[in-house]
Amino acid sequence: MRRPINIAVLGATGLVGLEFLRILEERSFPVGEVRALASARSEGKKIPFKGGELTVHAVSRDAFKGMDFALIAVGDDVSQEWAPIAAEAGCIVVDKSNAFRMDPSVPLVVPEVNPEDTRGHQGIIAGPNCSTIQMVMALAPLHRVNPITRVIADTYQSASGAGLDAVEELWEETRAVANGKDMQPSFLPYPLAMNLFPQIGGFSANGYCSEEIKLINETRKILHEPGMAISATTVRVPVEISHSEALHVEFTHAMSASEARSILADSPGIAIIDEPFENQYPMPLFAAGKDEVFVGRIRNDLSHPHGIAMWVVSDNLRKGAALNAVQVAELMMEQDLL
Ligand SMILES: NC(=O)c1ccc[n+]([C@@H]2O[C@H](COP(=O)([O-])OP(=O)(O)OC[C@H]3O[C@@H](n4cnc5c(N)ncnc54)[C@H](OP(=O)(O)O)[C@@H]3O)[C@@H](O)[C@H]2O)c1
Repeated sequence: MRRPINIAVLGATGLVGLEFLRILEERSFPVGEVRALASARSEGKKIPFKGGELTVHAVSRDAFKGMDFALIAVGDDVSQEWAPIAAEAGCIVVDKSNAFRMDPSVPLVVPEVNPEDTRGHQGIIAGPNCSTIQMVMALAPLHRVNPITRVIADTYQSASGAGLDAVEELWEETRAVANGKDMQPSFLPYPLAMNLFPQIGGFSANGYCSEEIKLINETRKILHEPGMAISATTVRVPVEISHSEALHVEFTHAMSASEARSILADSPGIAIIDEPFENQYPMPLFAAGKDEVFVGRIRNDLSHPHGIAMWVVSDNLRKGAALNAVQVAELMMEQDLL
């Protein structure tokens, strides 16, 4: 019988950290000791877990001793500091931040797409950005059959993708609008209620914002296609949970919409909702709280003989973050890589 697995969760009070704990509870993950870690601000807070409570502790070197995994969901600078310490203490680190994703020595893994990449790990495995995960889940099965030559991705990303502060701000603004009061954004760059803005992260000289660059570079790394032509526009929208993406994909050879639909229907982790004449397609409200990446509106692109257009929606906190990380941990256990 498998021994219980000890897990440190750093960022346990945040949106992704809380989702880690929910997912560990829901799945038959053989948890032993679970340590909830966050900043000193959260010392002593209680988090419900498996019918009891976890007490949150300020992260420290000692906190990682005796742990098998460190699931980390904090900002880039905090990960940069603590992930190597957790790895030195003997943990396998699955890190959700951007700190290590493009480091050539760090595997960037979506278990359904590139599970083999975990084998080269040196203590830290990175989880991709939420918008990247759902995009590669939809692209990889098609790319295996008919190599992709170009992708144009337009995203519609929820407030929760920016963390707890952004969600609280969206709710405050929504209440302000309903009561005829002024909106005062303090965390996001602009009011989000009754609005949207085509910026996620800072801009580069080439006019792309950092979320767009992440989507491009991470997709190339995961698919092992460093030259794949990808362009993106990432947009923050007034939705609480789940990101949506309009993908326009060009292939080496023509592919019919029905072939694309049947390939995706047979792919693990994908669910098809595609009955346009019955107004059935994926939506963020429906995807929130679910594990699958939902795909619909699959159609031949009228502007390109080898093109497919599709609409991809997934819960950014689950498959886009915590679920993917827990699946990485499960994969390591299945492959006896602990
Ligand atoms: N949200 C998503 O959909 C998503 C998806 C993929 C990746 N990610 C990435 O996952 C990470 C966490 O995102 P989130 O949305 O969960 O953010 P969040 O809700 O803002 O949570 C941040 C967490 O970091 C902790 N923290 C902050 N400063 C710390 C410090 N100095 N030492 C220790 N812990 C500290 C916070 O603890 P306190 O409560 O004590 O401040 C909190 O637990 C980010 O890197 C994000 O880019 C997020």
